[in-house]
Amino acid sequence: MEMIEEGKAKVNVEGVFYNPWMKLSRDISVEVIKRIPDELYVLDGFAASGIRGIRYYLESGNVKQVDFLDINDVAVKRIKENMERNGVEGKIIKSYFEDLGTNQTYNFIEIDPFGSPAQYIYPAILMAKHKKRFYLSATATDTAVLCGRHKEACKRNYHSWPMHDWTCHETGLRILIKFMAEAAFLYDYNVEVLFSFYYRHQMKVILKLEKGVPKIHEQLALIDFIHKEETLQRGIGLKENAKWAGPLWIGPLFHPNYISKSIPLMELVSKELPVPFHHHLHEIAKHYKLSKVPKIDKVIKELGATRTHFSPLGFKTEKKIEEILEVLR
Ligand SMILES: C[S@@+](CC[C@H](N)C(=O)[O-])C[C@H]1O[C@@H](n2cnc3c(N)ncnc32)[C@H](O)[C@@H]1O
Repeated sequence: MEMIEEGKAKVNVEGVFYNPWMKLSRDISVEVIKRIPDELYVLDGFAASGIRGIRYYLESGNVKQVDFLDINDVAVKRIKENMERNGVEGKIIKSYFEDLGTNQTYNFIEIDPFGSPAQYIYPAILMAKHKKRFYLSATATDTAVLCGRHKEACKRNYHSWPMHDWTCHETGLRILIKFMAEAAFLYDYNVEVLFSFYYRHQMKVILKLEKGVPKIHEQLALIDFIHKEETLQRGIGLKENAKWAGPLWIGPLFHPNYISKSIPLMELVSKELPVPFHHHLHEIAKHYKLSKVPKIDKVIKELGATRTHFSPLGFKTEKKIEEILEVLR
């Protein structure tokens, strides 16, 4: 036995996937779920030990039922044992996620595969497509793809052009949200990002999907391109002689109702300026050959900028590059 205690759950993870670095992602998901004003019927779609679904059930208060799905025999065995150990009732389904079929009862679907969630987004939406409203939570660990180290794979899987520079994690997260939003739009759902973040080779997005075409038409304006000029000036949209990435989501990365101040990453995200790109202190210094740069705190204060969770040396501001350089020089 390989027993793990995490949150209120005690699980045996012997022979199945368990990554302790994902604890933060599970903690954050619990906090978001707690704040959803609906009773939830959850599908833990890539369950492994069942730790996510078990924690959602034990810790959120509004999860009425969780079913667990995994294709792996050992996982199915572990889930059964871990459900009993933690007093969780629900179904265990041995199936490929994408084969489960449409018209399921779930209104919260968790997609936590190895690598890219892209191929599971449409099947997940089809599972719930007759619901007026439901929630979709997806993790991506193919960050090299979303960050542009494998550009072709990003175009193929997410239908967007990444930007392989220091902003790649933000660009990648926004490409993932765009991909999920486009899939939702196709089935007449508008979207609200409840929370999204990047942390150590993972990107996570939790969305609310609600039927309503007029709002989709408004949200189409939140899918756009970003560009970066030779001067490092950044902006929204395409511009001649500038590098670009997209299409991607330029809308909010969180909704204030779903933030728990007890989790520092959530608080940091919630304070970021809502601009779809950040600057990096040392990258600007390198580009402009500045011999000495002030400390990040001073730069942020003088610019009226905010920190960003995407990088400890990153900051967000709507100021022009000339104004940023005045502070740096
Ligand atoms: C990254 S692990 C899940 C981790 C787990 N959610 C956690 O929080 O610890 C991915 C799991 O999905 C299962 N899996 C992979 N592809 C699958 C598919 N297409 N359908 C169902 N299960 C799948 C694997 O057997 C594995 O247990």
